[in-house]
Amino acid sequence: MYTQALDIPEPRQQVREADASKADGLDAQRQTQFDTKIDGDRKIEPQDWMPEAYRKTLLRQISQHAHSEIVGMLPEGNWISRAPSLKRKAILLAKVQDEGGHGLYLYSAAETLGTSRDSMLDALHSGKAKYSSIFNYPTLTWADVGTIGWLVDGAAIMNQVPICRCSFGPYARAMIRICKEESFHQRQGFENLLTMMKGTLSQREMVQDAVNRWWWPVLAMFGPPDGDSPNSALGMRWGIKRISNDDLRQKFVDATVPQAQILGVTLPDPDLKWNAERGHQGYGAIDWDEFWAVVNGNGPCNKERLATRVKAHADGQWVRDAALAHAAKKRVREIKEAA
Ligand SMILES: [Fe+2]
Ligand SMILES: [Fe+2]
Repeated sequence: MYTQALDIPEPRQQVREADASKADGLDAQRQTQFDTKIDGDRKIEPQDWMPEAYRKTLLRQISQHAHSEIVGMLPEGNWISRAPSLKRKAILLAKVQDEGGHGLYLYSAAETLGTSRDSMLDALHSGKAKYSSIFNYPTLTWADVGTIGWLVDGAAIMNQVPICRCSFGPYARAMIRICKEESFHQRQGFENLLTMMKGTLSQREMVQDAVNRWWWPVLAMFGPPDGDSPNSALGMRWGIKRISNDDLRQKFVDATVPQAQILGVTLPDPDLKWNAERGHQGYGAIDWDEFWAVVNGNGPCNKERLATRVKAHADGQWVRDAALAHAAKKRVREIKEAA
């Protein structure tokens, strides 16, 4: 699903790594070939030479993205057994399964950069790796499910469509299918809310309450303001990041305001109004202290999400053991048959 700008780097680390690469005098010819490919908007493939800082940045971004997909299954998974109808249950099941699939494509893409899935999962389960802050908020009512689809998946699409043009081939190709599925996720959320808004007063109030709680965390999903993202320029240079955090956030707000009008909900921002001079919606200040608190482990559900994820992994150990045992038996059988 989602990320905040899909990458929360260690402050200044990327820039230092990039400088270090130059200082080490890496093969100038290979660096030139890499730069030429980037400048020509051609894809970098796993077997190609790439600067170490490019590899590390991608690895961090893709693994954070993969973690966000699988942790993102948890808030909505919470509602599968309580969906209000068979139709809604089938839709939600399909959506949550899609998110698991997105995680798998992305772990596979990250593995092509030379890391193992086990090490990525260890980093997630030990709390070392980040995932999107948005999944540390609770899903209190059924309207949260629709609101996640409408706003969170909507923000994910805004963030992820430009990654279909990312310079790293496996990541870009994975994103094409993911974006198609995210589009279904956004639509089902909007349609879910539209149905509720045509219902009873208490259903409409439920939707408004959910929108009030999710709006600001969703805006923060796009990541820190451009002025506080010193590493973004490098991501842009490498063709990993195509549109800045603030520009993506603005595009999202501009697209969402008319949708809120169709739904008949109020977005909880008194400063949200059309700015004719800029040709965009103006919006209020985001609480970045809250954002960083959640990113750093102190959101409403951080501990719960991580504990659930670790337990799910431990509970699945017998499946992985059984699959390995089956593969080993199969191999022995094949060798015997070939002999
Ligand atoms: Fe997803
Ligand atoms: Fe999604």
